[in-house]
Amino acid sequence: MSDKSKVIYLLVIFCAVAAFPFLYNSLSTPVNAKIELNTPVIDAMKVKQCIVPKEEMRRDHMKILNRWRDEVVRDSHREFGNIDGVMYEKSLQRTCMHCHSNKSEFCDRCHAYASVDVYCWDCHLAPKENKP
Ligand code: HEC
Ligand code: HEC
Ligand code: HEC
Repeated sequence: MSDKSKVIYLLVIFCAVAAFPFLYNSLSTPVNAKIELNTPVIDAMKVKQCIVPKEEMRRDHMKILNRWRDEVVRDSHREFGNIDGVMYEKSLQRTCMHCHSNKSEFCDRCHAYASVDVYCWDCHLAPKENKP
């Protein structure tokens, strides 16, 4: 190897190592996906918050949904609680999608970015959206 190609070789390795944390981070937390949070219901909220803190929701929403399904289907336990003065139940369609009614710009965009295939809509009704 000539000295010049050695330098280039080392530079390439250096860049790959330096970029790794950023690449890795963007893969594990897909916050760079251009999601749209605003919907009529969320715009009208006095305090704009999810049912659990945002970071927790981003990380654990699949676990929460699985737990809700088990609690509803096995134990018929449907009440969730009060958020911003409104009573909510443990329901994908009537709770999550009530606020996040822009499924394609919110859920779908992030899932596409993270290459996650969500099959729930085979059975559950997706919100009606005014698509252009
Ligand atoms: C094969 C059809 C089917 C698929 C696929 C499916 N579900 Fe369900 N799900 C049901 C049925 C039926 C109920 C019971 C409805 C009820 O009692 O209100 C239910 C209930 C639920 C409930 C509690 C009630 C409610 O209104 O939401 C949650 C939460 C839920 N499912 C989440 C999910 C999630 C998350 C996925 C995808 C990972 C999923 N389900 C995929 C059929 C399905
Ligand atoms: C009462 C309205 C409401 C309900 C119900 C609700 N959300 Fe949210 N959600 C919000 C708001 C508002 C934010 C933004 C919170 C913030 O910026 O701190 C949010 C944030 C999120 C985020 C993080 C987005 C990001 O910026 O990365 C995810 C994921 C999410 N919600 C999924 C869900 C799921 C899944 C459900 C049902 C289990 C649900 N939400 C129920 C209002 C709601
Ligand atoms: C900020 C990004 C982001 C947003 C917004 C988001 N999700 Fe997700 N979701 C993910 C990621 C990443 C996974 C895969 C996580 C894993 O496998 O550990 C996932 C997985 C899921 C799963 C489990 C799928 C399976 O088959 O295992 C369900 C159900 C789900 N999301 C529902 C929703 C719903 C409903 C919304 C909109 C209300 C939503 N998500 C919004 C990032 C997001």
